[in-house]
Amino acid sequence: ARAPLVDPFQRAITYLRVSVTDRCDFRCVYCMSEHMNFLPKKELLTLEELDRVSTAFVERGVRKLRITGGEPLVRRNIMSFFEAMSRHLESGALEELTVTTNGSQLQRFAKGLHAAGVRRINVSIDTLDHDKFKAITRWGSLDKVLAGLDAAQQAGLKVKINTVALKGVNEDELESMLRWAHGRGMDMTIIETMPMGEIEEDRTDQYLPLSLVRARLAQALTLEDIPYKTGGPARYVEVKETGGRLGFITPMTHNFCESCNRVRLTCTGTLYMCLGQDDAADLREAVRASEGNELLHQRIAEAIARKPKGHDFVIDRRSKKPSVGRHMSLTGG
Ligand code: GTP
Ligand code: 5AD
Ligand code: SF4
Repeated sequence: ARAPLVDPFQRAITYLRVSVTDRCDFRCVYCMSEHMNFLPKKELLTLEELDRVSTAFVERGVRKLRITGGEPLVRRNIMSFFEAMSRHLESGALEELTVTTNGSQLQRFAKGLHAAGVRRINVSIDTLDHDKFKAITRWGSLDKVLAGLDAAQQAGLKVKINTVALKGVNEDELESMLRWAHGRGMDMTIIETMPMGEIEEDRTDQYLPLSLVRARLAQALTLEDIPYKTGGPARYVEVKETGGRLGFITPMTHNFCESCNRVRLTCTGTLYMCLGQDDAADLREAVRASEGNELLHQRIAEAIARKPKGHDFVIDRRSKKPSVGRHMSLTGG
């Protein structure tokens, strides 16, 4: 067996996020510009190449694989990739195969995901108001997403709802969304918006610190810190009134980088060592250079040896530039 991946800060890399497409059927206002230029399809790794790279990481100790995008379920033939990855669950090498999705395609794919061994999925929903949903996603249909949620739960998938806190947009709804999620047996995480990629709106207008959200929720509900861990960055509380779990993802107000266990692969085979940094390694060239995986393993080891200590996101009214130029959709968060 190959040596596990450990970065210069003694953090073991056990979680790989694989963005299988930069495309999405929505255009959420905090994520994308209305007129996005997507990558030409010829730039993409094939599903076989994504398999080779992901498998190389599994051989080096990755235990959790999350498929992201863009919207991962719009990539052509994506179910065959999930089916291929399920062999690592069967062998015991992988503990969890999962996906972060906007939910729009779940009616079609929920059953297949479960059959491939997926047990828990994260679905992004920022509002339950139809008009606001259209305004945030620019043209998404909330009904379709809600039908997708039903399909997921019927298929036996556990669901976590991801909600980005947006000042003046959904802040008044967070408590009712939480009650709704818990009423359906779903966990929820609330996320601080991160300044990635040029968008039409001013980030300072959207940004809502979660310290404030938590204080407000605590006026109506009893929140108790719990040690629940998924391997992701959320810190969880149990809500006594509902019995459900709520996680806070606070890149801006609270650094969780010291326990970072993850890296990100894009659909073109670029490996980002940190969501909030530009440094990256090209694994596509290594995959294509030979049929064997030696060079690939070497490039992966070199990349992990450069993993930075943390991100340096700032939200600052004086500088309109995002901290990181690439859009969130390229690396899937
Ligand atoms: P769980 O497995 O359920 O814990 O999911 P997760 O939080 O690992 O993944 P998900 O795709 O649901 O991500 C939720 C939010 O966390 C997204 O907005 C991500 O951008 C953000 N996130 C995940 N990992 C990191 C990270 O390493 N750094 C930062 N800044 N944000 C992250
Ligand atoms: N800041 C924080 N979260 C974001 N997401 C997309 N863009 C941003 C951003 N700029 C969220 C999506 C999804 C998750 C993968 O990342 O809503 O839930
Ligand atoms: Fe698509 Fe997710 Fe970005 Fe919204 S946040 S545009 S659903 S990738």
